Amino acid sequence: MTIYLDNAATSFPKPEAVYQAMDRFGRASLANPGRAGHKMALAAEHTLDDGRHRLNRFFNGTSPERWVFTLNCTDALNMAFKGVLQAGDHVITSDLEHNSVSRPLRAMELDGFITLTRVKADGTGTLDPDAIKVAITPKTRMVAVGHASNVIGTVQPIAEIGQVVRERDVLFLVDAAQTAGVVPVDVQTLHIDLFALPGHKGLMGPTGTGALYVAPRVKINVWREGGTGGDSSNEVQPKEFPYFLEGGTPNVLGVAGLSTGIQWVESEGLQKIRTHEVGLTEWLWRQLDGIDGVQVYGHRDAARRVGTLSFRSETLAAPELGGILDQAFDIAIRPGLHCAPYIHRSLGTFPDGTVRVSPGPFNTEADIDRLAGALREILS
Ligand SMILES: Cc1ncc(COP(=O)(O)O)c(C=O)c1O
Repeated sequence: MTIYLDNAATSFPKPEAVYQAMDRFGRASLANPGRAGHKMALAAEHTLDDGRHRLNRFFNGTSPERWVFTLNCTDALNMAFKGVLQAGDHVITSDLEHNSVSRPLRAMELDGFITLTRVKADGTGTLDPDAIKVAITPKTRMVAVGHASNVIGTVQPIAEIGQVVRERDVLFLVDAAQTAGVVPVDVQTLHIDLFALPGHKGLMGPTGTGALYVAPRVKINVWREGGTGGDSSNEVQPKEFPYFLEGGTPNVLGVAGLSTGIQWVESEGLQKIRTHEVGLTEWLWRQLDGIDGVQVYGHRDAARRVGTLSFRSETLAAPELGGILDQAFDIAIRPGLHCAPYIHRSLGTFPDGTVRVSPGPFNTEADIDRLAGALREILS
């Protein structure tokens, strides 16, 4: 059986209740949701509503309608950038970001549509709120940062950054791909205006799920126009949230799984999940310290990290190491640049990248011991 340690990409396995909920929903209620439809359509619509209520409670949004279901976190981020930014805007981001933040912003910069400042993280992979404050100009419309690095797991001081950003009346976008379901977030207290998340990582839903929270003060343009399951006589996309941003048949089967995933996370408790995952990376880090020529990246203080750790070896480049772990030991980790080239350049690990290990709630110390044993065998 594969030892899966790639939960930063997507969580696996999902809790049993998620598989069961999707099976049940798929067999009994998988109709096209619609506010003006038959009983099954209404039941499917109810599942979407339930998911929105759960997200809103979980992250303390202003109302369930402000949560828009998306394909994944990338979809949510694109919806936010392309729907909100206007010609001549200045945007601040960081060198820690995933390509789903970096690429749309860089493309807009190359087109001459926006100007962009990329603030550098320090050696631990942490952003300095003062550096962001200093970078804000009268043209700055948005500060866009990830809550935790997907390469080294460092959690960013988003409370302090949110404070700085709100004081200057700039929009604050947070990419919660690596923290949703692991680190508590209150979008209102943290002054978050746009909050993008995947449903398929820490929230334990299936792939094909994600969401964007749009605070009431944000002006956003339509993303894709089409059917909304109601108000069909309207010649253009109805302005009403969330339908304004949700044209077309939504992934209601995925949302049924996501809602159950959120319930599971709530019943386990975020702190317990994070402590378990970070504890496993600590255990690995201690074992890696004993292998010659291995360098580990990230914050040494476990309280500043989620359960994601990166390392590299002088003996073997990350892609080869990843291949051997997969082929010879059936251990799934993620080697390479992790869609985050700028931080690898800063760490000095470009272009081979690192080996990223990201345990999930169902991994055990025995899994980490198998990985550490395999590494000792390969690298000695
Ligand atoms: C920090 C970060 N942002 C965004 C994404 C994109 O998420 P998705 O795969 O759901 O589009 C990822 C995916 O790994 C990520 O780690």
